[in-house]
Amino acid sequence: MIDKKVFEFPTYYTNPIGRIAIGWGVYQTVATECKAANIKKALITTTGLKGTGIVEEIDEILTSNGISTEIYNKVTSNPKDYEVMEAYQVFKNTGCDGVVSIGGGSSHDCGKGVRAVFTYAGRDISEMSAARNPRWVEQSKSELITIPQICVNTTAGTGAETSAGAAIVNTKDKIKIYVTAPGLPSRLALIDPLLVRLMPQHIAAWTGFDALAHAFESFVHKSRSEYNKALQLRAMKLVSENLREFAYNRNNHDACENMCWAESLAVVGLNFAGGIGIVHGLGDGLSALYDTHHGRTNGVLAIPLERYNEPACPEKFAEMAQAMGVDTRGLTTVQASDKWFVEIERLLQDLDIRSGHLNEQFGLKRDDIEHIATKQYYGGSLANRGNPREYNANECIKLLESLY
Ligand SMILES: [Fe+2]
Repeated sequence: MIDKKVFEFPTYYTNPIGRIAIGWGVYQTVATECKAANIKKALITTTGLKGTGIVEEIDEILTSNGISTEIYNKVTSNPKDYEVMEAYQVFKNTGCDGVVSIGGGSSHDCGKGVRAVFTYAGRDISEMSAARNPRWVEQSKSELITIPQICVNTTAGTGAETSAGAAIVNTKDKIKIYVTAPGLPSRLALIDPLLVRLMPQHIAAWTGFDALAHAFESFVHKSRSEYNKALQLRAMKLVSENLREFAYNRNNHDACENMCWAESLAVVGLNFAGGIGIVHGLGDGLSALYDTHHGRTNGVLAIPLERYNEPACPEKFAEMAQAMGVDTRGLTTVQASDKWFVEIERLLQDLDIRSGHLNEQFGLKRDDIEHIATKQYYGGSLANRGNPREYNANECIKLLESLY
């Protein structure tokens, strides 16, 4: 759940989400689905997925079925505001009437950004931050985004094919913003294990950890619905049972399919009144400054930041340990809670993700720590609103310094 204060007795709202189709070969329905959405000319937003042939094949499916295409393939990891604006120019100047995004979170979020900018007559995407610009929230209520988007998902982690908003880097202010507006979610997510298995090993590991981060951050969130709890426990079980096998053998079909389910469950859980916290909140600051991979960054921060959260809700960590297969019988709540950290540490080790050491791993500069704590986490993010342990900016600074 986004854009909601955390009250003692909150009302839970679910976000509207589009249809989801998960299955082997489902990407081949892309032209049929475009026709159903009345798309005659599609802008394909993508990173290019070079070497896989995926973009070329989908372009061929669309054009051979009478749907014209334009391709914007300059999207990068942590999609930038200027990429969205460039893609918007292509959309506008070539008369597109729909978006087909192909890839992971960057491609999908860029596509969402294009639709938002077009609907709001070329307004700069960097002004559309739900957390930073209250005037945008008011204005965005007035106009529904009706341009359809179909997401062809090729990763198993970010959930952007179904998420409510778009995470875009505001390059001027060097923060990652979260854009929301009515009608922004995609019309349809095509989640296809046949494409997902083509990811490189390290991307499979990193994006898979992002799915887990959505699950555990929203499970320990202060304001979480019963929908969210149920979905996230299942997502955690699937990740703990499948991510290692998937990362090291993407042709393990069961592991691949189960990771597709896990990442989708986790994002639906977020949409059904869940929320992210400090790991995404501070991680987004690192990604905005140093272009670090989103999922890897969450992995690098997971243990130290959740250790800080642990005293606020050990019973939730104990429940998550059980979901990850730990036998907690006979243990106290705190002992069981500690087992969750043992599980995560082992998983990170198996995925070759190292905790902390932010200077060595990401090039963190001491001078940037305050920027991340104040401009990103407290100034630009929704992630601080339901984190189980309350923080102030000074505590964030100390935490980041301890991980330097
Ligand atoms: Fe994420």
